[in-house]
Amino acid sequence: MKLRRTKPNPATHDIQEHPALVRIAHWLQALAIVIMIGSGWRIYNSVPIFGNYRFPLWATLGGNPLQSKIAHMDPGVANALNWHFTGMWLLLASYLLFMAHGTISGHFWRHLLPLRPRDILRDFIAAATFRLGHRLGEYNAVQRFAYWGVLFAILMMFLTGLAIWKPAQLSGLTWLFGGYPTARVLHFIFMSAICLFMVVHVALVILVPKTFVAMVFGRASHAHPTHPEPMHHAGE
Ligand code: HEM
Repeated sequence: MKLRRTKPNPATHDIQEHPALVRIAHWLQALAIVIMIGSGWRIYNSVPIFGNYRFPLWATLGGNPLQSKIAHMDPGVANALNWHFTGMWLLLASYLLFMAHGTISGHFWRHLLPLRPRDILRDFIAAATFRLGHRLGEYNAVQRFAYWGVLFAILMMFLTGLAIWKPAQLSGLTWLFGGYPTARVLHFIFMSAICLFMVVHVALVILVPKTFVAMVFGRASHAHPTHPEPMHHAGE
């Protein structure tokens, strides 16, 4: 006898849906950030901020330094800069797409707001004591805070990046960030915040893999614990 699953019913299932635009913008942002971090680390290595600390070569992006040196007398920094600016345009486009869609469609207001300090504290304590449940399709206050936080960090990465890219033309912006060396440190701090977000974000996705299914395919559902998933005999 053949069994088939019916389309999930919102009364019995938690359902999560992501429109194609959100998924495309999300994955392009993730790709652009990986490119920007890898190439940024190579650029950092040529003039480290923190003493002699450098990122391991394998974790950086910018081609083979030895080959670049032989061909162009450059240890791979020029390549890394090309990657960095490619990543920057990709990130700018996907970030604007994500922000515009979230604002115009009402997604931000419906799913990422409100954001109250009291709720963040409550959910943070629940998460730290392993008592925070997860309902597919709903973002808890800590998640909302983290998503706004990373979106803010990306914006600050752009602004501090512009300040150190064009310190002469955009001298006002560079001044606003406390001058070139301070803007550079701030750029590094926001990069570190994004890295921290990524580690926690990916760990949480691994814990609730259905969220990944929804972010890739657009839809996932999960039966409420009180409602076993209905199975129907074919032809019913
Ligand atoms: C730094 C890069 C990344 C950024 C900035 C980022 C940002 C975000 C944001 C803002 C959301 C909320 C989406 C919404 O508006 O509904 C989200 C959701 C999500 N992201 Fe990422 N993300 C990044 C990397 C990744 C990676 C590498 C993965 C792969 C494991 C991933 C998987 C997901 C999933 C599965 C969701 C849905 C979460 C849920 O439903 O609870 N993200 N991400």
